Amino acid sequence: MQEKMSAAKNHIDDHIESSIYSAHLAEVNETRQVIAKEDIFNDRGVLLVKSGSAITPAASRAIVQFKLTKPLQDSVTIQNEMSAKDLLHNFATFIAQDHILQSIHTSYQLEPLLELQCYHYDALPMLKQKITVMSDRMRETFDRTLSCTWFSLLIAKEMHLPPTDITNIFLAALAHDIGMLHINSETLEKKEPLNAEEWRQIQAHVVIGKTILAAIPSVPAAVCLAVLEHHERCDGTGYPFGKVESELSIAGQIIALSDSVISVYYNRFKPEGRGWRDIIPFIQMNNHAFFYRNYEVLITVLRHSELPSTRVVDHDAMLGFIGQVIIKNTQLKHWFNEIKDYMKLIGYSHGDRKLHALQNVIFHIATSVTASGLFQEGFVEWLEQIQDERLSDSYRQVEDIYLMQEEVIFHLQRLNRMVKIHLTDVNKQNVKIKEILESCVSRSDEHIKAMN
Ligand SMILES: [Fe+2]
Repeated sequence: MQEKMSAAKNHIDDHIESSIYSAHLAEVNETRQVIAKEDIFNDRGVLLVKSGSAITPAASRAIVQFKLTKPLQDSVTIQNEMSAKDLLHNFATFIAQDHILQSIHTSYQLEPLLELQCYHYDALPMLKQKITVMSDRMRETFDRTLSCTWFSLLIAKEMHLPPTDITNIFLAALAHDIGMLHINSETLEKKEPLNAEEWRQIQAHVVIGKTILAAIPSVPAAVCLAVLEHHERCDGTGYPFGKVESELSIAGQIIALSDSVISVYYNRFKPEGRGWRDIIPFIQMNNHAFFYRNYEVLITVLRHSELPSTRVVDHDAMLGFIGQVIIKNTQLKHWFNEIKDYMKLIGYSHGDRKLHALQNVIFHIATSVTASGLFQEGFVEWLEQIQDERLSDSYRQVEDIYLMQEEVIFHLQRLNRMVKIHLTDVNKQNVKIKEILESCVSRSDEHIKAMN
């Protein structure tokens, strides 16, 4: 596992990491001074920036050309960094923008807890530096970080975790994406699909974040571990290690759930006019990926929060919409069953751990699908009855079904991408397995095309 971690980290070496971060610091220096608190040398002993000098664009250009003797962040200080009070103010602004979150914040009495945690943040200068740079240079990532931290705090509180665990979760949630400050912004902002190398670069942010925190003696190991694990999933499909449920920490999994929820809400649901209630079917269809206790707590909070049951589809368009949902359900059932059969056909005696993980994905999807009832006998007939008899009381349920279908499609597409990657390193001797996987990909591609 250690080998895998250094492999992940090597995709962005220390030199590139410092270069990217020094460019951010030079930009921050335009609004708040970034000063070298000691002489900065390259690894050949040449003085690059004198103690007391600002990290200007010229200083940054000198830094990017060389490997430094120590991480750049250890040699600089930022004036007017984001204080605990500033951070609390940023939380207040974020919460005030959404009356649902504001109402949950008040009824679950989160304010005193949040205030207390912000003062723990104040005691960690390196975290303050990173959060200050993030707020200036990666505003969207910073806003998502606030969201993720707030949700993580809510879940941790409702799980009645001990105060130390709650603080660790808060700090880890706040720090979970600081590694992004060391990833090339061109890769982060690329609109086209990422290639394998670019994808590996982005994945390195969890290891970089963990490494930065692990170098600070006062940061608990649980915080470092949670940052490292925030993209791991219980079904073994996450990164950097592909750990499974029994190997994961509760803190990392609370952040993973919060991060996923806010990502789907702000990237997909909000632009479509959907509300927080729509998160419930999303979580239900992804329950194989998260700790049971974590998502149960979040669903309970959402259910108790009297969320408006907004409908996105116009009343007049509903009958046509139900028709589309019915067609999609039949196509999806066919696609899902075909892929499941291919995965069974491979057999289980191949001894390939990665292939076992891929086979497990389809069975995890099957668990969620079974719980949802999507492919049960009589399901389509029930939808047809809603359509024929215009049962408007059930229209909202049809929208939930649509959201669940979208999740099944998302997971089948993701599995297809994973199988394609796996095919590039399948042992050539496994001709039979290769043929099965190729047929599996080909059928999935056809289904994806047919459903678009
Ligand atoms: Fe992340």
